[in-house]
Amino acid sequence: MEIDRSVAIVTGASSGIGAATARLLAGRGARVVLAARRADRLEALVAELPGAMAVPTDVTDPAQLGHLVERCLDVHGRVDILVNNAGQGLHVPILELRADDLRAVFELNVIAPLVAMQAVVPSMRAQGGGAIVNVSSATSLRLFPGLGGYSATKAALNLLSQIGRIEFADSRVAISVVYPSVTETEFHQSLRAGHFADGPRRFPADPPELVATTIAFAIESGEAHLMVGDPPRPVVPGSDDPWAGGLARPMPARPAWGGGTAAQTAPPDQGAAT
Ligand SMILES: NC(=O)c1ccc[n+]([C@@H]2O[C@H](COP(=O)([O-])OP(=O)(O)OC[C@H]3O[C@@H](n4cnc5c(N)ncnc54)[C@H](OP(=O)(O)O)[C@@H]3O)[C@@H](O)[C@H]2O)c1
Repeated sequence: MEIDRSVAIVTGASSGIGAATARLLAGRGARVVLAARRADRLEALVAELPGAMAVPTDVTDPAQLGHLVERCLDVHGRVDILVNNAGQGLHVPILELRADDLRAVFELNVIAPLVAMQAVVPSMRAQGGGAIVNVSSATSLRLFPGLGGYSATKAALNLLSQIGRIEFADSRVAISVVYPSVTETEFHQSLRAGHFADGPRRFPADPPELVATTIAFAIESGEAHLMVGDPPRPVVPGSDDPWAGGLARPMPARPAWGGGTAAQTAPPDQGAAT
């Protein structure tokens, strides 16, 4: 998907990765539609970016998400790009993980991107295509004690994205997933519960602009899975890539009925007949 002259909705645009992505896309000629709850932050960004508009939105409210997409369609007549970026951390060990906190973060990190995808895909299909980028986390691809709740929400987002990518392929709507590592934003100060791991970090935090560059690459390339980096690194499920083991793989093609293997995999009634 070409970014120049496209119309792009970015959620969580009031800070961090979302704000950096909005700046980058607007700089490359997109008309950006900025969504988050803090209207003052969005308005400040709109003042910086030509062609931008703000639609204050709590993405956990499906009615507000519907309104966001309607406003975009009313003003621009189309939506080419959706960046599902709004999200929150929940960094507590399993025994301390409160159900209410997990439900709230699940609403934000999983249900909201799902509802947003459902809201834009009909228009994208009618236009002949579109690009959706879901911002996940590298923590969903490896096991990090203390991050079970947060990582579970992002793993759920990964699967919705992977399956949606297959379901939407015939309408040229590409779903990509970007997996940031630790990034220098307000994220670690606004966790739903818990705290960032103590002690020295093994590597420095990425700047949000680097994640934004990876999101732009996802839009342009349509790659399914991208680790953040310069250059961004595509990951193929089932490959030798050290991060690939955390990704679900497609079902293998069903072997032909009648052979030895097929007899074992066929439904019992058909298997018995061979
Ligand atoms: N920073 C990291 O280390 C890191 C690592 C891996 C993945 N990520 C992911 O990257 C994404 C962006 O996070 P960030 O690092 O840029 O953190 P951030 O600076 O805290 O930004 C989070 C954004 O989400 C928005 N948001 C939160 N709740 C919302 C709601 N109910 N409705 C609408 N918007 C909401 C916030 O805006 P308002 O408060 O104004 O609504 C804010 O713009 C998240 O999905 C996060 O899980 C971050």
